[in-house]
Amino acid sequence: MKVKGQKGNDTIRLAVVGFGRIGKACAEALFESKDLVLAAIVRRPDSLAQALPDAFNKIPIVSHAAQVHHVDGALLCVPMAQVLDTAHDCLQHGIPIIESSLLHGEAFHAHRDAIHRIAIRYDVPAIVGAGWDPGALSIVRSLFALLAPEGDIETKHRVAGSLHHTAMARQVVGVKEALCTEQLAANGTRQRYVYVELEEGVDADRIADAIRADPLFLGEETLVFPVDSVAALEQEGRGIVLERRGAPGRSGHQRLLFEARFDESLLTAHMMLAAARALPGLSPGAHSLLDLPLNALWGEQGHNAERAWL
Ligand SMILES: NC(=O)c1ccc[n+]([C@@H]2O[C@H](COP(=O)([O-])OP(=O)(O)OC[C@H]3O[C@@H](n4cnc5c(N)ncnc54)[C@H](OP(=O)(O)O)[C@@H]3O)[C@@H](O)[C@H]2O)c1
Repeated sequence: MKVKGQKGNDTIRLAVVGFGRIGKACAEALFESKDLVLAAIVRRPDSLAQALPDAFNKIPIVSHAAQVHHVDGALLCVPMAQVLDTAHDCLQHGIPIIESSLLHGEAFHAHRDAIHRIAIRYDVPAIVGAGWDPGALSIVRSLFALLAPEGDIETKHRVAGSLHHTAMARQVVGVKEALCTEQLAANGTRQRYVYVELEEGVDADRIADAIRADPLFLGEETLVFPVDSVAALEQEGRGIVLERRGAPGRSGHQRLLFEARFDESLLTAHMMLAAARALPGLSPGAHSLLDLPLNALWGEQGHNAERAWL
């Protein structure tokens, strides 16, 4: 009998490759999971000496996925430019991969094809585009389009939630208005995001340098983003609004609305974990989330999901 909180024999063991924002979120989500196990964290040799949060004390930290014992899949959380090489490395060692590169449309297809060829060569499955967007949001968009065919879809991104005014940035000559927000990078360091509305003809790089040079921002990574309207930005929350309007016709005017506020890293991590549940029994080659039966994303919980959601 399985004791509550104890992971059973039918668990899926996963390596997290790259301990940045998404990697950390994946590793933490794996700790919470009942059916998936964090087998190891794979880091660049230069990062191996960096201390991880205490919670990861007992997790093997290695420099290559092939060094992980009994691994069923690798969650690739490396920068996009490194994904293809890292996927190749894992696949040639027979390790299925899940990735979530921020690619759409034709670029996504080319990327998928490239991974597909490698996965077929080594006879291993791969799941591509399994994050928030692409990923979960692709499923929502696809469903909306099925329900309201021939319509238009509009996506509005909401940039940030905890924005506050920054008098310092506003004092820089050429800045009309400025807002600032902070976030924690995966290694615990603080990053500041400064959104600036500029006077016409002002050099954005000069403004960014001036803001970064201020004692208030020294010692912290500060990213400066010029925007058209700070007031408009302030009005928005953080997240996304997706609206699908069906084409006028016999079926009437359908309007579907999806609004979300979220932590992108967390949602991407949860989608990557869900994709990992679909790995057992998956044929070799690259699969996108749209190729997978929704039930497979629930793994062992599939039968409960059907009762709950149908
Ligand atoms: N689909 C979505 O919605 C979505 C959303 C966000 C991100 N993503 C994808 O998730 C992946 C990870 O994004 P992230 O925001 O977590 O990136 P990140 O914070 O920059 O972290 C990437 C990590 O990869 C490792 N790494 C390996 N080679 C590297 C190199 N040459 N330069 C820098 N780091 C390297 C590093 O970890 P170590 O130091 O431990 O080696 C680094 O911390 C990307 O492929 C991105 O496209 C998808």
